[in-house]
Formats: sequence, structure tokens, C-alpha cells
Amino acid sequence: MSERLQSLSGMHDVLPEDVHAWQRLEAGVREVMEAYGYAEIRTPLLEHTALFERSLGAATDVVEKEMYTFVDRDKRSLTLRPENTASCVRSGIQHGFVYQGPSRLWYMGPMFRHERQQKGRYRQFSQFGVEAFGLPDPDIEAEIIALGQRLWKRLGIDRDVRLEINTLGTAAERAAYRARLVDYLQACEGDLDADSRRRLHANPLRVLDSKNPALQGLIEEAPRLWDDLGSDSRRHFEHLRALLDALDVDYRVVPRLVRGLDYYSHTVFEWVTERLGAQGAVCAGGRYDGLVEQLGGKPTPGVGFASGMERLLLLIAEVGKAVEPPAPHAYLVLLGERAGAAGLALAERLRDELPGLRLRTHCGGGSVKSQMRRADRSGAQVALILGEAELDGRQIQVKALRSDAGQRSVAFADLAAHLDDFVAAGAAD
Ligand code: HAM
Repeated sequence: MSERLQSLSGMHDVLPEDVHAWQRLEAGVREVMEAYGYAEIRTPLLEHTALFERSLGAATDVVEKEMYTFVDRDKRSLTLRPENTASCVRSGIQHGFVYQGPSRLWYMGPMFRHERQQKGRYRQFSQFGVEAFGLPDPDIEAEIIALGQRLWKRLGIDRDVRLEINTLGTAAERAAYRARLVDYLQACEGDLDADSRRRLHANPLRVLDSKNPALQGLIEEAPRLWDDLGSDSRRHFEHLRALLDALDVDYRVVPRLVRGLDYYSHTVFEWVTERLGAQGAVCAGGRYDGLVEQLGGKPTPGVGFASGMERLLLLIAEVGKAVEPPAPHAYLVLLGERAGAAGLALAERLRDELPGLRLRTHCGGGSVKSQMRRADRSGAQVALILGEAELDGRQIQVKALRSDAGQRSVAFADLAAHLDDFVAAGAAD
């Protein structure tokens, strides 16, 4: 027997029984984005490797060890997108829309990172996100945070996530802080773990993000970036806090929140949950005012976030808000060859007449008993039974499967009106 092929580690099928939960999440995202007037953008999954190297930072985990990079047939280095902010900025510069007044975009789709796979961390995962360009003030930050909160409420998980915010100031302020931080970390280098020692020079701010319990005391005592911030940066952050207070959004200021990608300045934030173990960040983002220029464009402020959809679905399932996929309204049982052919045509006509109808037609023949068993298993409200006698009489037997309403004959001409009650009842749910 030849070897059975499996999907790649960290890349999962979404099976039919799970698709409904995805569709509901996707519909919720679309609805909220429309409510805020954001426009959808779809960028390619493959980009030049240089795009991510130049935007995410050479010393970040993503660029150092997680990108799916390969040389294609034209000998160009390409990378499957590990995130979508860089692609949105690239697209905005390429098409010029980042310069044509403020733009607010959203997206949804797969991203790829070669990470060690565990619950909530995958190699192909989906994000939805927003990116807004041309808006320098904290009002847009407050808006995208409120947008996130509205979606969490709609998904029934707002009590299970909390917001953490911080400010990273400007690049110059961060450089001053970085020097102070390196001095401090060097003084206690002997207490650092191997990972942090490696980061000490390449990316010292990331040491603050270490989850190693042995380092938490040392991180608590570390110098604070706030002390290096100028008055503009402080005012920006205080303004955001006032806006969040006015919107009744709860948050915690977390000085060690530095994010794992290099393009941020000023505000950074994460929505986190306690309910998913180590992979607790369900949404993360912040301001990246230098990125458009860094990628060859004219200086243009940017801000956004992205949310891991698998993590949201795990959380929704965890808090018990998952719902069953909709069953068909009706299952069409077809007895005999003539009924088989006429039944397919009847089903098409019913779908024309009742666009909301969910009708499953039996295929493959079989006894009435086996077909009725399938009808029952489908979860349908009623079985529509069409045999030779019904065909000759231009009527059909309608048998209730989920109530004791019994069975009765309905003329072909009245069938759509009869089934409309089920469709209307579903629509009112
Ligand atoms: P990020 O923090 O790398 O930021 O990812 C955002 C979210 O994507 C995470 O909080 C998490 O929910 C999800 N995520 C990341 N990696 C994985 C993974 N391997 N498996 C499952 N879920 C994952 C960004 O991607 C930025 N582009 C966010 C942003 C947009 N900043 C400004 N605009």
C-alpha cells in the first residue's frame, strides 16, 4: 500500500462540522467593519521577502526564524505573508491610496509562520485586521479599540478578554531608553536566560516580554520607557487614555508590553485572555508612523491591529457560545425512477420560488426506510415524500420529523407556500 499523505504540521483542515463557526465569525467581522465604514482590501499571499525583512525588523522572531521563504523559478526570494500590515503599506504606496486623505481598511485571510505548533499557535492561521492611514491623533486608536470591543460583545467573549496598552514613544525616545535598558541588563547579565542574553544586544526591549518566571523580578525592576518620553509622546498617550475612559473601555497600562514586531511607535495594545493557556493574545496592534517612509513612501501615519481567528474560535467554544450549523428545512425522499427525475426538477423549482429554503434532495435511491433514516439524520423539519402515486396525483406527502404534526398530502401548487412557514420561522430566529 502506498504511504498515506497527511496535512502539514500546524496546517489544519477546517472540516464541514467546524465551518459554520468560522462563517459566523467572518459574518460578525464583516458586519462590524461595515458599521464603522472600513473598506476591505485583499492582498496577495506571496510577496518579495524584502518587504517583510524591511518592515518587521531583522532581529524579530518572525524574520529570524519563522518565515516561509523560498526561491521561485525566476530566482526571486519570495515569502508567504507572515502578517498583513506590511502588505497593506506596500499596496498603499504602490497605488497611492495612503496619500489620498485618510483611509481605513480591513482584511481577513491566512498568514504563515513556521512556529512550534501548540494549542492556539499554528503555521497557517487566519487573521482579520484593520489598518488606518493618514490619521496621526489618538482618536483613531480609540476607534479601533472600540471596534474590537464591539466585536467581542457580539461574539459573547467580552467578559473573557482584557485590554492592555502601552506607549513606545518615538524612535529617538526609544533609542535613548534602549541604551539605558542595555546598561541595566548588562549589569545583571548573569541572571538572564539564554534567550534574553541573545536578545540583549539585538532586540533588548523584547527581553521585557519574556515569560520566564525567573526573570519577572528583574523585569519589574527594569528602567521604564516612560521616563525617556518627551511631552508630545506623553500627551498623546494621556489623550488616548482619556478617550478610552470616555468610551467606558477598561484597560491596564502594562509597561512591559513591547510587541514582537519592530515597526511600532507610540501606542501599542493587546487584547488578552486567561482562558487559552500560553497563547493568550487574541488581538494585537498599535501605531506605526514610520513604516510607510521605511518602505519607500512619503511620511504617513499608520495604525492598526490584527486578531487570530483560531484563537477567537477556541475562546468562543470555551465560553460555550458555539452554535449548531443550520439543518435543512426539508429532505426530499424520492421513491422510484420516475419520481427520482421529477424530484430533481421539483427541488429546483422550490429553490427558485423560496430563495431562503434549505432543501436536501436524496440521491442514490434506496428503500423508503433507509431514505427516511437519512432524512431524520439530516436534522430537517420535514420529509417530503414523492413516489409514483404522488407524482400522478401532483401532490407530495409532507411528514413532520421534529413534531407530532403527522403526515399529510400537499398539492405541488401549494408546496412553496407550505414550506415558506419554515423559512420564515428560521428567518425570525
Ligand atoms: P501579531 O501580534 O504578530 O501582530 O499577530 C496578531 C495576532 O495574530 C496575535 O495576537 C494572535 O492572536 C494571532 N497570531 C499570531 N501568530 C499566530 C499563530 N502562529 N497561530 C495563531 N494565531 C497567531 C501582527 O500580525 C500585526 N500585523 C498586527 C498589526 C496590525 N499591527 C498593526 N496593524
